[in-house]
Amino acid sequence: MWGGRFAAGPAEAMERINPSIDFDRRFWREDIQGSKAHAQMLVAQGILTAEDGAAIAQGLEDIWGEIESGEFKFSRALEDIHLNVESRLREKIGDAAGRLHTGRSRNDQVATDMKLWARGAIDALDVELKDLQAALIDQADRNADTIMPGFTHLQPAQPVTLGHHMLAYVEMIGRDRSRLADARRRLNECPLGAAALAGTPFPIDRHMTASALGFDRPAANSLDAVSDRDFVLELLAAAGICAVHLSRLAEELVIWTTAQFRFVKLSDAFTTGSSIMPQKKNADGAELVRGKTGRVLGAFTAIAVVLKGLPLAYGKDMQEDKEPCFDAVDTLGLCIACTTGMIRDMEANSAALRKAVDAGFPTATDLADWLVREAGMPFRDAHHVTGRVVRAAEERGCGLEDLPLEVMREIDPAIDDRIFAVLSVEASVNARMSYGGTAPARVREQVAAARERFLDD
Ligand code: ARG
Repeated sequence: MWGGRFAAGPAEAMERINPSIDFDRRFWREDIQGSKAHAQMLVAQGILTAEDGAAIAQGLEDIWGEIESGEFKFSRALEDIHLNVESRLREKIGDAAGRLHTGRSRNDQVATDMKLWARGAIDALDVELKDLQAALIDQADRNADTIMPGFTHLQPAQPVTLGHHMLAYVEMIGRDRSRLADARRRLNECPLGAAALAGTPFPIDRHMTASALGFDRPAANSLDAVSDRDFVLELLAAAGICAVHLSRLAEELVIWTTAQFRFVKLSDAFTTGSSIMPQKKNADGAELVRGKTGRVLGAFTAIAVVLKGLPLAYGKDMQEDKEPCFDAVDTLGLCIACTTGMIRDMEANSAALRKAVDAGFPTATDLADWLVREAGMPFRDAHHVTGRVVRAAEERGCGLEDLPLEVMREIDPAIDDRIFAVLSVEASVNARMSYGGTAPARVREQVAAARERFLDD
């Protein structure tokens, strides 16, 4: 493609480091779509004849078929998807193929392809995340009344419902979807026609190509258009945060499935056995979701570091954006699919969950709240009194609700027998009716609201 300027071919190591075809062939569809839109625009602007335009369109169509059917021969000598397609087009239609590159460069071409690919990736992730939300909401619905310990510091804190816990993840995934949607909105400006870096003297119509490719508008600055990869960073930042959320859920599943917790059962489909210990059923699916987070976060760092020292405009360094980006998006997609499956099949062990609540004095806050409400005690004093009651129960090895009234009254005579009504776990959960709280009645409302907010459309 540039033989005119060169007397010698590339070194063997150069032949290995230079090509991107092994990974950028992944956006062959986007590349052909971009070329078609560009050719149509060149014809409309009188830069190409209608005959050349028709030959190019037909040639690109045929190449699409060849790649789709697997008969296309990709060549590493031709570096990347752009030159592979163009060179094949020349074989098919001759000189007209050479006119396709008028008013365009691989620099704006690759930026356009990558944006089109990123846009498609975001749309696919959104569908997958919505499925995950549906699985979580169904579990929340089934477990609106399933009482379990709520933790802080992984120490029992206050009783909550499993439904409420599931809905917490629905919110996180909702924010992940909205971050991806934001990234999509910002990236949707078309670089095509920025040419190498400075624009082109040909009377091209960048608005026409932008709209043909579904962009909102052409990118305003040609230098920025070819050197912008912050859309990749933004996609990966959103993907990384999402992976972190999945990892937290995965970590909970790992803990919850241990013999010590037995809070939930995962299906055989997402667990594995041990080659030596016959009793084992390991939460490998969850562990892998947790483990793969590193790759997704690493991709962001890899590309941020590539970009941080790059002067404007294009540098070949930017070819390094693709592998980490593709890998991160694939990895996240796989993690979402696996998490959705695990959550769909998950069975709550409501007896174990209920039993676990009794450990750790989960209604201590209810006792303190009662002292505030019924005895007019400042909360800090109530906290202190309750702490002493907890210590007394701990010494006797019983729960708060089993502590004799005299023992509590010795600590503070303001306590009377009405206290037992708030020391039960069920009463504690039912009382948390504040907006966004864990009371089953609230959780049911939240399930309905979440379906409307996230699943309708
Ligand atoms: N394969 C290149 C990339 O991925 C395409 C752009 C090449 N442009 C250039 N001036 N060498 O970035």
